Amino acid sequence: MSFVYLYLLATALFIFGLKRLSGVRTARSGNRFAALGMAIAIGAALIEAGVLTWWALLLAAAIGAVVGLVLAKRVPMTAMPELVAAFNGVGGAASAVVALSYLAGELIDGTVLADTAGVSTDTAVTVPISILIGMATLTGSFVAYMKLGGKKMSHPVSGSARHSLHAALGFGALAVSLWLVLYAESTGMQITAIVLLVAISAVLGVLLVMPIGGADMPVVVALLNSYSGLAAAASGFVIGNLLLVVAGALVGASGLILTKIMCKAMNRSLGNVLLGGIGDDDVAEDARDYSNIKESSGEEVAMLLDGASSVIIVPGYGLAVAQAQHVTLELATELEARDVQVRYAIHPVAGRMPGHMNVLLAEADVPYEQLFELERINGDFQNTDVVIILGANDVVNPLAREEGNPISGMPILDVDYAQTVVVVKRSLSPGYAGIKNPLFDLDNTLMVFADAKEALQEMVNEVKEL
Ligand code: TAP
Repeated sequence: MSFVYLYLLATALFIFGLKRLSGVRTARSGNRFAALGMAIAIGAALIEAGVLTWWALLLAAAIGAVVGLVLAKRVPMTAMPELVAAFNGVGGAASAVVALSYLAGELIDGTVLADTAGVSTDTAVTVPISILIGMATLTGSFVAYMKLGGKKMSHPVSGSARHSLHAALGFGALAVSLWLVLYAESTGMQITAIVLLVAISAVLGVLLVMPIGGADMPVVVALLNSYSGLAAAASGFVIGNLLLVVAGALVGASGLILTKIMCKAMNRSLGNVLLGGIGDDDVAEDARDYSNIKESSGEEVAMLLDGASSVIIVPGYGLAVAQAQHVTLELATELEARDVQVRYAIHPVAGRMPGHMNVLLAEADVPYEQLFELERINGDFQNTDVVIILGANDVVNPLAREEGNPISGMPILDVDYAQTVVVVKRSLSPGYAGIKNPLFDLDNTLMVFADAKEALQEMVNEVKEL
């Protein structure tokens, strides 16, 4: 029974780790505690499984560990969101496979899994749940992976017919699940029903994520993360493993909390994100059509900074692409040495994953106390001399204040209220939402067209010369 105590210890470490993950300063150690919990959980599962399956399980764990290690080392920061989407998908697939292998382990007699006749109701209920959520998470995450990688996809059906199709598939999945549950005890689980459920769930996952685009992907990624946890919890019930139930429930609940935070950041209800379907196909035709662009240079910006007393830096996805976090800190340090107040404004969905900018700036050891969330800094832009926007676009786009576009209603950083706005990006290309940004045309905006790292290096050199 020693594994029970190990399960308890692992659970405590998961909860302790999660608690620490909620603070920027404690997040790294939180990650280590949770990883230790997972190592103990795997060890306990090995003990519970007994000596016979030891080697098979150890081999599987070793393969998983090597793949994880190589991916974590190789995948660049900018591709992390795709990796997270892939992990969600694999998590969902694993749960579906656990439920399916539970069924495959039973004797197959004709079209019915004979030995499942007489299965307990909770198993009969949790098997379809595992398959449904697991398969939909797998295929939905695959679509999210492609979209995050920049692949454009449009739903084959548009308008209200799309919602009817989704509803029909949803009811179909429910009906097949009921068929499985109701007949499991008397006649055993029907193979036809199982195959049907796998197919419907897979199609549903693809179709539900396909139309979601614009700036709503953060919500989808968080939601799929939550689904992968729910699928794991359901498969924990299937095989009677309590730790899997607990770990799955923790992932499911924290994913849901993250989904709620992301919805708040986008000023959307979950229903609006899932049913709104503002897709990539809504990209404005005239996304690069501007009339009042004022081009500037690192040298000119350095002179501007020389006369400033307060500067706010706004990091965005492009900063991660340019890997310019270290040179950003260098510029800030130079400015502080000249008594300029420097702060960083962090938008909750800047970048491509929750906390992306915090992680990026932490890599360069930017002091935490200089990072300000949107609500805390938005009132200060009007008293700020210079705002430097580094590879951000959607999160500072004033179009969000207007109706009828993919980012309508999303709270933005009110950078346009500052005295001067410097935008550093390579071209007039739109951001993730694919729409024009009227900020670039404003009288108080200067554009520096360059890679963020190169532009910042030039600014640092010029500031040093002053
Ligand atoms: P974006 O709106 O995506 O804009 C990034 C900008 O960076 C682009 O306009 C690009 O312009 C510029 N850029 C790219 N490489 C650069 C480089 N090397 N140097 C300088 N600039 C570079 O970024 P954002 O403002 O951070 O907004 C995030 C968007 O992603 C939101 O729409 C959000 O909803 C979405 N999203 C977020 C998440 C999460 S959870 N954060 C997940 C999925 C999607 P150029 O090509 O002209 O340089």
